[in-house]
Parts: sequence; C-alpha cells; structure tokens
Amino acid sequence: MAYETIIVEVEDHIALVKLNRPDAMNALNAQLMSELADAMKSAQTNDKVRCIVLTGNEKAFAAGADIKMMSEKSYTDVFTEDLFGAECAEVTNVRKPVIAAVSGYALGGGCELAMMCDFIICSDTAKFGQPEVNLGVMAGIGGTQRLTRAIGKAKAMDMNLTGRFMDAEEAERAGLVSRIVPAKKLMEEAMGAAGKIAEKGMVSLMAIKEAVNQSFEMPLDQGLLFERRMFHSLFATEDQKEGMSAFIDKRTPQFRDK
Ligand code: HXC
Repeated sequence: MAYETIIVEVEDHIALVKLNRPDAMNALNAQLMSELADAMKSAQTNDKVRCIVLTGNEKAFAAGADIKMMSEKSYTDVFTEDLFGAECAEVTNVRKPVIAAVSGYALGGGCELAMMCDFIICSDTAKFGQPEVNLGVMAGIGGTQRLTRAIGKAKAMDMNLTGRFMDAEEAERAGLVSRIVPAKKLMEEAMGAAGKIAEKGMVSLMAIKEAVNQSFEMPLDQGLLFERRMFHSLFATEDQKEGMSAFIDKRTPQFRDK
C-alpha cells in the first residue's frame, strides 16, 4: 500500500511511523487511519521490525479526529461504520512494542492514539487534552477509559469535562508519559529507547507487553498468576538459556527469539 498521509521508514530494526498531514495538525481522517492500520499490521509481520515508534511533527502529534470529516456525519453513519474502531484495533493488536513520541498537540483522538501505544515519551512542548466536550461530543477511542486508568479519576474527569490542556510537566507528574525531553532531543530519545528494546528477545518483549496489558483486564490475583505462568513459560526458550549464561560469562547476550 502506498501511503499519502503517513511516512514509514524501517531502519536498524525500528519502524518509524510518522503521521503526515501537517496542514491539518495531523488530524485523523479515514485515509490516515486506514494507512496507519496497514502500517501497524505490516510492522507486526515484518521480521526486520523489533520496535515501532509512532510520531507526528514538532507542532502536533495529532490534534484529534478530523472535525471537518466528522461534522456532517449522523449517528447512523458513525454507528454503522464504527468510526475508527477497526483501525484502532489494528494499533492495539500489535504485539511488538510501540512507543509514542509526542511533540506539540496530542488532543482528542491524538491523545487517545498516543495512549494506545505502550508508553509515551514527550517533548517539553507537548500538550495533551480531551477537548471533545467543546464540540458537543465526548472522547470516543479511549479518552474516558485509558486516560482514567493512566492518570486516575480526578484528572481524567477534569480533562474530559473542562477540555483543558495538560502540559508535559503535568502529564509526567500524572503518569501519562514516561519521559520528557527537550523538543530537539525527542526523536533521539525515542529512537534510543526503541534501539534498547530492539536488542532484547522478542519472546520476552511480547510476553511483557501482554502481561502489563492484562493488568488492566484482570483482578490482581489472576493477573499475578498470569504473570507467573508467563514467567515460567519463558524457561522453555533458548533466549532464557542465552540471557542467563551471558550474564554468568560476563558477555552481551545474543537473543535469537527462540
Ligand atoms: C480538522 C484541524 C483539527 C482537527 C486542527 N485543524 N485541528 N482540522 N480536525 N481536529 C486544522 C485547522 O482547521 C487549521 O486548518 C490547521 O489545522 C491549523 O490549526 P489552527 O487552529 O489554525 O492552529 P492553532 O490556532 O495553532 O490551534 C491549534 C489547535 C486547534 C489548538 C490544535 O487547531 C484545535 O483546537 N484543534 C481542534 C482540537 C480538537 O478539538 N480535537 C478533538 C477532535 S474530536 P486551516 O485549513 O484553517 O488552516 C476527536 C474525537 C476522537 O478527536 C474520537 C474518534 C472516534
């Protein structure tokens, strides 16, 4: 598939997926979401890719779903097409690690898209928000659910009910992002983190991602059992033998994803 609204580069085992509608602050329209879904699926099946970095530009990660696209839609339209439901599922179905590198605005669907990634690294210029209330609607792809799990009820209610923006400092304090870096260093930091991840064994990486995500689905005792059984299962891998012998031999492990 040839992309027009995103740019994908695969280098050094990292797929860099860049949202590319600069004139519209990377607003998410049907074409962009369909291309993004395709790119995520391809990254999952491409053996060269070990980690994915999703980013926008300096001004905007994405300023939300495209309001011009949505403005004429009826209830029946958005319900029957399940606006962006299938595309978001492709993003969250990716089993390889996905980092969001956010600079500038991550609003509405943009904030929600960043939260679909495994963690967010942002620049000191980042602004997060769920301003859908100002449009007479509400968040539709995770802003009342993932945001609440990430930052708790008080702040999630505040963000969704007032539509105010949260700066990078507040986002880090609240636990929405894992790191803040100066804007100029954002891509270096995100690619560096992706590079570190890409050195690990893919079986461990996928198991970790699955286990952390299960923590949102399961009560604690079941989650802990799930984690323990996953941990046990990794002893069936060659990577466990390699990782532990490399430590004992004081050398760098050579993981083979087996
Ligand atoms: C369509 C958008 C857009 C959007 C910005 N643009 N956001 N177009 N949809 N979400 C366009 C503007 O229309 C403008 O185009 C250009 O990008 C530059 O934006 P400006 O507003 O001129 O820039 P600025 O004054 O710097 O303000 C930036 C901004 C503001 C704060 C990000 O654009 C803004 O508030 N955007 C809307 C944010 C929002 O409400 N997001 C939630 C959407 S609903 P022109 O052609 O005029 O130059 C949503 C629901 C998700 O996300 C659920 C889906 C299932």
